[in-house]
Amino acid sequence: MQYTLMHRNVSVIDLEIDEYSNITALGTLYSAEHLPIGTFHKNIVDRKMLNAWWTKRSIPASRQGLREALDTLNLSSSQELIRKCFGLSLSDQYWVSPTDTPLHWEEINFFENSFSEDIGNILFGKGGSAESTSLVSPDNTADGNLKKKWKISDGKRILIKSSSAPYHQETYNEVIASIIAGRLGISHVTYQMMTEHGEECCVCEDFITKETELVSAAQVMRSGKKRSNQSEYEFYIECCENLGVSDIREEMENMLVLDYLIANTDRHLNNFGLIRDARTLKWVGAAPIFDCGNSLWFNLQSSEIKPEDDSELKTPLWKKNPTYNLKLVTDLSRFDLSVLDGVEDEIRVLLETSQHIKEPRIGTLCSAVRTRIELLNEIAEEQTKCPIK
Ligand SMILES: Nc1ncnc2c1ncn2[C@@H]1O[C@H](COP(=O)(O)OP(=O)(O)O)[C@@H](O)[C@H]1O
Ligand SMILES: [Mg+2]
Repeated sequence: MQYTLMHRNVSVIDLEIDEYSNITALGTLYSAEHLPIGTFHKNIVDRKMLNAWWTKRSIPASRQGLREALDTLNLSSSQELIRKCFGLSLSDQYWVSPTDTPLHWEEINFFENSFSEDIGNILFGKGGSAESTSLVSPDNTADGNLKKKWKISDGKRILIKSSSAPYHQETYNEVIASIIAGRLGISHVTYQMMTEHGEECCVCEDFITKETELVSAAQVMRSGKKRSNQSEYEFYIECCENLGVSDIREEMENMLVLDYLIANTDRHLNNFGLIRDARTLKWVGAAPIFDCGNSLWFNLQSSEIKPEDDSELKTPLWKKNPTYNLKLVTDLSRFDLSVLDGVEDEIRVLLETSQHIKEPRIGTLCSAVRTRIELLNEIAEEQTKCPIK
């Protein structure tokens, strides 16, 4: 079928998309500057890159509950779902308009128009059938492995996330990260606990508006070319600075400090990024920190929790574990850790509401957070004695 790739109400390029939602051919280019980053080289649109970007909008095959949902819908892959919602998302402003029945962004975007919760409910294992299901939902374009669904509550777009067995800790970790980031004054997405379909979930508001969009670090890094002697970290900072985001090093360091405190093992290139204004294409700055769920030894038995030793922990990025990544932070003395006094008590009160996390795990986690704070204090003192050049 023929479509036009749209960026809000700007026509970007004509496309042919097959029944599996693959971009099989390109047509007239209307606006090269509105193309997704990294899909335009030497005045040529790279169809393969554009297709890779487009198909990455689908629910990843590793998502909890996806297989069952696809069976319910008689579909063979989640990729087929992106075309059904015209690729619309609540994290950016791209979508496709069918050539034979063109649509208007104002009438269909999910920021201003309602959407179905059917897919989200099916992903949560709650009923539905192929015949009665509305497929017009931002859940079709939501990334990540954990069960999640978008919903409208009091007119706000909210994202509800679930957790995984055996400890179901990821949702609590999001809230704990919000508490710590909040006390430290680090820009973050605020998560709270809620119940959805009888499950303990966490919920946050959409940090994207109908004017803005999230551009992942992975995409940002397609805006430049890394020098062979340059680290990935410095390359990312250079890309952001070249795009005009001048305070990015400070924002990255805030993220690394938070990730150290919570022993985050999941800070990959799609779990942080920049926000830009989709109308003007001007860069707004670093996105608030989101997705801190895979942290605080969420999948380890209590006896395996070792806050003073990260050697068994792996992060996908840079120096490979949260302690090593701290070495990238140029001035730890700017973090006033006294604001975290008593945070373990606040965490205890929160964890005591969990159906799955019980003593002694609660005690172990609270003292592990306290240990991380003490260790960070020591590392900061060491750094003051021997500053990073
Ligand atoms: N509050 C939010 N507002 C807008 N987009 C979001 C928000 N939270 C997450 N996203 C988008 O949804 C994707 C999946 O969410 P994430 O929290 O990373 O889930 P997971 O833990 O399954 O990886 C993110 O990569 C991001 O693109
Ligand atoms: Mg994620």
